[in-house]
Amino acid sequence: MIKIAPSILSADFAELGRDIRRIATADYVHFDVMDGRFVPNISIGLPVLKSIRPVTELPIDVHLMIEEPSLYAQRFCDAGADLVTMHVEADTEENLHKAIAAIHAKGKKAGVVLKPATPAEAALPYLEEVDILLVMTVEPGFGGQKFMADMMPKVTTLRKWIDARNPACELEVDGGVDPETAKVCVAAGANVLVAGSSVYKAENIPERIAQLRG
Ligand code: DX5
Ligand code: ZN
Repeated sequence: MIKIAPSILSADFAELGRDIRRIATADYVHFDVMDGRFVPNISIGLPVLKSIRPVTELPIDVHLMIEEPSLYAQRFCDAGADLVTMHVEADTEENLHKAIAAIHAKGKKAGVVLKPATPAEAALPYLEEVDILLVMTVEPGFGGQKFMADMMPKVTTLRKWIDARNPACELEVDGGVDPETAKVCVAAGANVLVAGSSVYKAENIPERIAQLRG
């Protein structure tokens, strides 16, 4: 089944509770955390996560675009994350292994993320221990960018490795996903689609979510 994870980066932060209730038919709430260092933008963090936790029953998918995510992963679990993903470019392999174990010890799901320039091989050290792999289809930092179709071979490679070595692992894509590019991602092997602007700019959000699911 294809799962949809609307990114609340494209929501109206002055009406965040309302905008989260509007995506109730989705599968995850995608929560983008940016520190102004790993990416050239600053977004939302722990207090906002804590505030939205009671607003939705959907699992919250926290995408950490921060330096040394291992230092913060457990605090995001405590603030209400169900799933925490960390960039392989942002920390040491040793720290990421420890953080994945710490997230699991909290009963939450863990994953790693690859920026566009990072090869599929960078996920291999984590393949058997993660619940999700996330492939960026834009440079992380901003919503509303153009989908990078040249990331699809990476998605297909990861799908092959997941099927062979950790079939329960989910494969997520993030950036520039709309009803057209969603089909390309699914054909390449993704099963979780993050979509920010495409969902929040839609006239009818539940209809757009259904359309993305295909
Ligand atoms: C980008 C974020 C994405 C972003 C997606 O750095 O990780 O989750 O919100 O937005 P769209 O779907 O508009 O590309
Ligand atoms: Zn994201």
